[in-house]
Amino acid sequence: MRELAGKTAFVTGGASGIGFALGRAFAAAGMKVMLADIEADALAAAVKTLRDVAPDVRGVACDVADADSVERAAEAAGEAFGKVHVVCNNAGVGGGSGIDDISVDTWRWVIDVNLMRVVHGIRSFLPRIRSHGEGGHIVNTASMAGMNSGMGFSPYSASKFAVVNMSEGLATRLKPLGIGVTVLCPGWVRSRISESGRNRPERYGPTRTPDPASRAGGLAAQIAELVRSELDPADVAAQVLTAIREDELYVFTHHGANWRAELEERFAAILAAMDKAADR
Ligand code: NAI
Repeated sequence: MRELAGKTAFVTGGASGIGFALGRAFAAAGMKVMLADIEADALAAAVKTLRDVAPDVRGVACDVADADSVERAAEAAGEAFGKVHVVCNNAGVGGGSGIDDISVDTWRWVIDVNLMRVVHGIRSFLPRIRSHGEGGHIVNTASMAGMNSGMGFSPYSASKFAVVNMSEGLATRLKPLGIGVTVLCPGWVRSRISESGRNRPERYGPTRTPDPASRAGGLAAQIAELVRSELDPADVAAQVLTAIREDELYVFTHHGANWRAELEERFAAILAAMDKAADR
């Protein structure tokens, strides 16, 4: 979608971090923007801030883990702005690491938010984009955790691998309809992802903070530090806008040798196993 000005973007997780930066970048590009988020106060503050950039910014309360809530948010976006063109399924939560100490509630929470939000977003918005016929673009925020297994046995990685796969599948199916797909795979980005427990609904039970002395606790502290110190979300948003304009499927925000080596190692192992199958 080369021309963004005058079009409408819908961004989940728009009250903070990458989602907020996306909202700001879309507004600055002359788009109408609907921010959707579960955290009411942060959402109100985000909308207020972005209204200084552009007048056509609204907010809608939305729990992306809940299909009805996403549908209501899609209706609200339609009522506010008519057609929606760009949909960013971005809201996400971090949580859970270890092997047998991840509760079933934590698995459900992370999978419902990080994976099912894409299902709900597609189900609610794709028919609307198809019916207005002006084309569109879907951005699914995955992660480098959807490309490598560095986080071990974790609901976060499982959800992000699924988002990469769903995006690849969607891209093929939607191309003939003039609807682009981007899967955003960031490395570490400055945001509040390490405080995801702040938005854990009661139905998933309490957030358990891991013992700092445990392996999971050590990993959580390490992640919190990396997230504090790394990439500005505005840089990520700029790359996403380019990807929408150029119709690019993958966006990687980090390209250092370590990130590449992890991918190469994984792909090499997969290809070696295939070669072994060919030799048998
Ligand atoms: P963040 O915590 O700053 O922002 C996430 C937003 O999602 C928050 O505004 C939060 O209120 C919202 N949210 C959480 N649960 C929700 C729900 N059920 N319904 C609606 N909104 C909900 O974190 P960040 O980093 O901006 O996260 C955005 C996306 O980026 C996530 O999908 C995350 O997994 C992904 N990501 C982040 C990385 C990082 O280093 N920060 C790295 C790779 C991916």
